Amino acid sequence: MVSERIANIHESTTLKISAMAKKLNKSGLDVIDLGVGEPDFATPQNICEAGCNSIRNGETHYAPTSGIAELRQAIAEKLCDENKLAVTADDVVVTPGAKMAVFATVQALMQEGDECVLIGPSWVSYEPCVAFSGGHVVWGQVDEDFMPVDLAETITRKTKLILMNSPCNPTGAVFDRKILKEISDLAVDHDLFVVSDEIYEKIIYDREHISIGSLPGMEDRTVTINGFSKCYAMTGWRLGYLTGPKETLKWVTRLLSHSVSQATTFVQRAGVEALRGPQDAVKAMRAEFCDRRDLFVYGLQRMGIICNLPGGAFYVFPNVSKFGGGDVFADKLLKDALIAATPGSAFGPGGADYVRISYAASQERLKEALVRIEKMLK
Ligand SMILES: Cc1ncc(COP(=O)(O)O)c(C=O)c1O
Repeated sequence: MVSERIANIHESTTLKISAMAKKLNKSGLDVIDLGVGEPDFATPQNICEAGCNSIRNGETHYAPTSGIAELRQAIAEKLCDENKLAVTADDVVVTPGAKMAVFATVQALMQEGDECVLIGPSWVSYEPCVAFSGGHVVWGQVDEDFMPVDLAETITRKTKLILMNSPCNPTGAVFDRKILKEISDLAVDHDLFVVSDEIYEKIIYDREHISIGSLPGMEDRTVTINGFSKCYAMTGWRLGYLTGPKETLKWVTRLLSHSVSQATTFVQRAGVEALRGPQDAVKAMRAEFCDRRDLFVYGLQRMGIICNLPGGAFYVFPNVSKFGGGDVFADKLLKDALIAATPGSAFGPGGADYVRISYAASQERLKEALVRIEKMLK
């Protein structure tokens, strides 16, 4: 009935768990949903206004496939100033969400039999994107701080690209310049592409975000992907973008033109306001996420759970091997503590000992979750 290519793609565990939590909540149970990957903040008002004004102004028709000129210009300026990437508006393609940017880039670069390296536990959608292209994932190892080790051992004749994500979902790891240099050296030595998903760029604590595309030798082999979902609390608006070698952008645009056409016109206007308007809301959200991270990580550590203090994103990734591993622990959390979390196995074989818990919830709910976990462990 269905093609092999589609049948190879498994359901997103995070979306499945979130749907389960919603169903349980509807049935009257008080489930704390810490399985989701979305900020619980409202989209800043000025951004909403810009989108509404655009609709009122009649901007409700098709737009150019690669995005409206004003947004591409604003993104190019942001990439030059903040990410030190020497790009112009012509080097930017806007997409309906960063997920589409990842999907289209992987389809443009990979083909049957090619290999894509993922570095340790990685976002749930990367592997399906690679599977859809006909390629395969090779999993790189990480140490206890989720930093790559022996990455060179993953490279074969078939390796086409390294797909990386810093700050990382699910581990919260942030790669420093030394790690990025090691990855870029490998890419240059073996003539590989690097796809760098930087969607959590601004949700970062006391660390510097560095774009690997700004390192020497990387300008012609890096596709940098970003979006508005996480840093501007715009998950439902579906707005993302990429920049990279012109040839890659050409084929990504071709794929978009025959599939989704382009990101919604008035959403793109909201994106211009997000980038050009005041950034206070971004700072306030980051500060609140940082307080929640501390509350939750130290709370888990006090119970004897091994948990790193993540450098970015809004997830903790504790090691629960002494409680039977991630699958068992996540199951127990839902059944005994009414807390939805994602088993680490959803993020690849290296995640089996872990569980991902999102702290995109109020401090009150996080404190309640800690009380429930403590009770569950007793
Ligand atoms: C690492 C990573 N990349 C991309 C996305 C997708 O972002 P968007 O909402 O812009 O499609 C997510 C969302 O969970 C993510 O965690």
